Amino acid sequence: MTDYDKIAKHFLERRADKSRFDYNRDIEVPAMVKLIGNVKNKVILDLGCGFGDHSLKLSKKGAKKIIGIDLSKELIKFANEQNISNCKFEVGNIDQKLKFPHNYFDIVISGLAIHYIKNINQLFKEVKRVLKKNGTFVFSTGHPIFDLINQTPKLKNEMKALGTRRIIDGNYFDESQKISDLGSIGKVKMYSYTFETFIKSGLNNGFELIDYVDAKPVQGSKKYDSEKYKLTTTLPTFILFKFKKK
Ligand SMILES: C[S@@+](CC[C@H](N)C(=O)[O-])C[C@H]1O[C@@H](n2cnc3c(N)ncnc32)[C@H](O)[C@@H]1O
Repeated sequence: MTDYDKIAKHFLERRADKSRFDYNRDIEVPAMVKLIGNVKNKVILDLGCGFGDHSLKLSKKGAKKIIGIDLSKELIKFANEQNISNCKFEVGNIDQKLKFPHNYFDIVISGLAIHYIKNINQLFKEVKRVLKKNGTFVFSTGHPIFDLINQTPKLKNEMKALGTRRIIDGNYFDESQKISDLGSIGKVKMYSYTFETFIKSGLNNGFELIDYVDAKPVQGSKKYDSEKYKLTTTLPTFILFKFKKK
C-alpha cells in the first residue's frame, strides 16, 4: 500500500470541501490549467494523476485523449469512477521507464508528483522520448522556500507570532528524501529538489524552458480563509515549469 493509498479518500474529500481553503484546488490546479494552455485535440499524459483532477479539467477543455498514471490503486479507482470522457487511468510507476511509444504525446503534465520521484533525470529522458517534437512538459512542485518553512513545524507557531516577517530554516541543498506533513491529510515521504535540479534536468535532456510561474491563489478563494489567502499571496507555495521538446 502506498502513502497515497492510505490517505486517498481524505485527499479527494478535502479538495471537494468548499467550506475551506484548499492549496491544490485554489492555487495549483488553476495555475497548471492556465499554463498548459490550449489542449484542443491534443493527446496528453498525466503523470501522478491522482484522482484525475487536472485530467477532468483538460477533458472539458477539448483534449482528444488523456492517459493518467499513478502509483496509488485507490486514487486510480476514484479517477476511473468519474468516467471522464476521453480519459483512461491506470496504475503505474513514473519513477521507472514509461511503457508508451516514442513521439506519442502532444503534452505531458505532472501536478505535484515530481517530488516523489528519485530519478528525476530518467523521468525527463522518458518524457522527452514519449513527447512529439515541440511537445510540452508542464509540471508543478512545492516552492523550495515554502518547503523550507514547512519542514520545521515548530516554525509555524513562530510564524504566527512574527506576523508578516518570516524565518527560513532547513537546508535548501539537501535533496534527500524526507517526511512531509500535509496537515490534516497526513504525512508522506518526498524529496525537495532545487531550482537548479529542475532547470538543468530539462536543459540537459534536450528541452527548452519556455515559461515559469510562481503560483498565487485564485481571487475567489479569499472567502474560504483570509489568513491562508494572505499567507499564500505573500509566501509562494508552488512553482510551475513549462518545457518544450526541441
Ligand atoms: C500531491 S498528489 C497529486 C495528485 C494529482 N496530480 C493532483 O494534483 O490531484 C501526488 C501523486 O503522486 C503519486 N505518486 C507518487 N509517487 C509516484 C510514482 N512513483 N509513480 C506514480 N505516481 C506517484 C501519488 O500517488 C499521488 O497521487
